[in-house]
Amino acid sequence: MNSTCYIAGLGTSVPEKKLSNFDFEKIMDTSNEWIVSRTGIKTRHVLAEGQNISDIAYEASLKAIVDAKIDKSEITHILVATCSPQKLSPSLACILAQNLGLSSTSGLQTISTHNPSLVCFDFNAACSGFIYGLEIARAFLALHSNSTILLVTAEGLSRRLNFQDRTTSILFGDGAGAVILRNHGDYLYKVHDVSLGSDGDYCDLIQIGGGTEFEAKVGDVVDESFFLTMQGREVFKSAVRGMAQESLKLLEKNSLTVNDIDLFITHQANLRIIEAVGERLSISQDKVFTNLEKYGNTSASSILLAMEEAREQGKLKKGAKTLLTAFGSGLTWGSALLS
Ligand code: ACO
Repeated sequence: MNSTCYIAGLGTSVPEKKLSNFDFEKIMDTSNEWIVSRTGIKTRHVLAEGQNISDIAYEASLKAIVDAKIDKSEITHILVATCSPQKLSPSLACILAQNLGLSSTSGLQTISTHNPSLVCFDFNAACSGFIYGLEIARAFLALHSNSTILLVTAEGLSRRLNFQDRTTSILFGDGAGAVILRNHGDYLYKVHDVSLGSDGDYCDLIQIGGGTEFEAKVGDVVDESFFLTMQGREVFKSAVRGMAQESLKLLEKNSLTVNDIDLFITHQANLRIIEAVGERLSISQDKVFTNLEKYGNTSASSILLAMEEAREQGKLKKGAKTLLTAFGSGLTWGSALLS
């Protein structure tokens, strides 16, 4: 089976509104010094009132489509990685199809035996969503070789942060990313291989409420369980172990060593986690790319925000070996190898 998968275009978008560490100093018992020294984060972008993740997902998608030099009508699949969906249903993928004007070319009004249908769905692998999405896309491409896949990551975690909880609210930001994936034509980067893992025994460590377990009736008031909760120290240890082990497994499977890697991009959760993974892998720090100081933890979107910036700085290059790794709620984790 042909497992060729190319990233043909890349785009990102964050809301304009920013929250700095100094803004947090005004609303809770914290300090810029504590946040920077414990996390590396200085500011993050958050959705403004009335704004939705579909807005930033749309912008990121348009940029990826332009970057790939394709017509949007070529898209056969929209896959959205999110753990903060706009609604429980419909999927953000379907909302995006409507906003992009794709339903009118392939939807119910135009069903025929000639037009390919547009496949749309969301999936939740939390912060590992982009890496999981690459593997899902590889499977679709192997089954349907002429596919053009729009893989989107979109997170609005600020809408599920408890701003009375200083241990979680300072960590996260909102953002979206998108890539066009196909197995033919011009491309930016090749996806060589992907390796995924999960362990449901740790599902209590990071939770985001608001699902159907909340037996709501009109007029109810939400409590803390509606928001993101996390056992930070446990997550920290598991994140370091998970990302380092999965990366080594992927390298070994491809007969590579850490020395063969030109650029290392991890999920941007906490600078100390990234440094600890780098140390475990003995990868030199100048090969490790970070930009979380500007965005905080944007969950599934963080790797794409980092890839876009690394590309702008000339660090993410076609042909150079790039190792991606992520870790998140579930617990889930995964690594991917690009060149
Ligand atoms: N400002 C000031 N003090 C704080 C703050 C804050 N914002 N937050 C916590 N503290 C205090 C604590 O209350 C504690 O005080 P105490 O000793 O009096 O009890 C002290 O600082 C130390 O707290 P720790 O939790 O031990 O601090 P730690 O160094 O572990 O850092 C952190 C906490 C930043 C959350 C860290 O554990 C971490 O980054 N964990 C991983 C989080 C992560 O990466 N999540 C990613 C997955 S998210 C997803 O999948 C959606």
